[in-house]
Amino acid sequence: EKAGHRHFMAKEIHEQPQTLSDVIAAYVDGDRIAPPVAYDFAATDRIQMVACGTAHIACQVAKYWFEQLARLPVEVDIASEYRYREGPVGAETTALFVSQSGETADTLAALRYAKGKARAVVSVVNVAESSIARDSDVAFPILAGVEIGVASTKAFVNQLGVLLALAIHAARQRGEIDAAREADLVATFRLLPGILAQALATEPRAEELAARLAEASDILFLGRGTMYPMAHEGALKLKEISYIHAEAYASGELKHGPIALVDRTLPVVVFAPMDALFEKTVSNMQEVMAREGQVLLVTDADGAAQASDGVWEVLVMPRVDPVFAPLVYAVPAQLLAYHTAVHKGTDVDQPRNLAKSVTVE
Ligand code: M6R
Repeated sequence: EKAGHRHFMAKEIHEQPQTLSDVIAAYVDGDRIAPPVAYDFAATDRIQMVACGTAHIACQVAKYWFEQLARLPVEVDIASEYRYREGPVGAETTALFVSQSGETADTLAALRYAKGKARAVVSVVNVAESSIARDSDVAFPILAGVEIGVASTKAFVNQLGVLLALAIHAARQRGEIDAAREADLVATFRLLPGILAQALATEPRAEELAARLAEASDILFLGRGTMYPMAHEGALKLKEISYIHAEAYASGELKHGPIALVDRTLPVVVFAPMDALFEKTVSNMQEVMAREGQVLLVTDADGAAQASDGVWEVLVMPRVDPVFAPLVYAVPAQLLAYHTAVHKGTDVDQPRNLAKSVTVE
């Protein structure tokens, strides 16, 4: 049932090119986005996204997409905070809940708080017959299939895939992009399963690097733009299954405190594809190196050619349009965590103290 893999998590990581193809099959029609259920993003003035854990990180990535592509303001909340804060919910607000299981207690309670106040309660869920899906006005399926590993992998990538499809769709509905730009984005979207497969081919190198990360007691993850939430995903996956203390910071926040942690014993994983923010991230990375921090730079061939000098290690990812980079950089986040955990001998599929679905508060 693990299809030759040692753990369900490994199997699920390797399923991602296929499961992302299933999102494309369901959300793309020719050269446009055509979601399986209708929702009019032109009739809303903001989105409140609410979720827990990895699903919350998917929302943080999606904020960049909806704001940049569709010019639609997005607030992102952790469900356990949102449900008790009793904040205002505008009548034109879309309340959007993301959950793999569709049964997470805090997310469900947050949904019930927003219901009747928001313009609509929308969800992005894996389990179609779940409570969250049933209680939503509109439920977008992520089609990842059953996910068994406690650490979410393919569900996260499919959450990203669906949220990106919806952001492109919203941009078109709101007149922020034209048909030609939509067709361009869709053409790249269709290449993504193949690019994920290329990213997965870096596994032997990730495994090598993980053996070194396994010796650390603390690890920092840095990134800018969408790579900032991806740094959070890298840190969350790592602590969840390897039990190594990890933290994520926006690269630009480093000098506001966390740089005090840096010394020669600290690995610092930097997610930096070649994009408009690359040089800014590199200059933060150099600040780490000046304090003898051990930088593991995760970038593409262009980034590696420009910025490998003096870094501890480089992990080279395939090139991708920056809009789509979070889906690709999910792979090294997962592989580094997975192999670090395997190296340490922890229980990868059933990490201590954790449950797959958190149905109590
Ligand atoms: O089923 P949900 O998506 O609502 O679950 C939310 C979190 O419990 C979940 O993403 C958790 O953070 C994962 N174990 C992370 O890998």
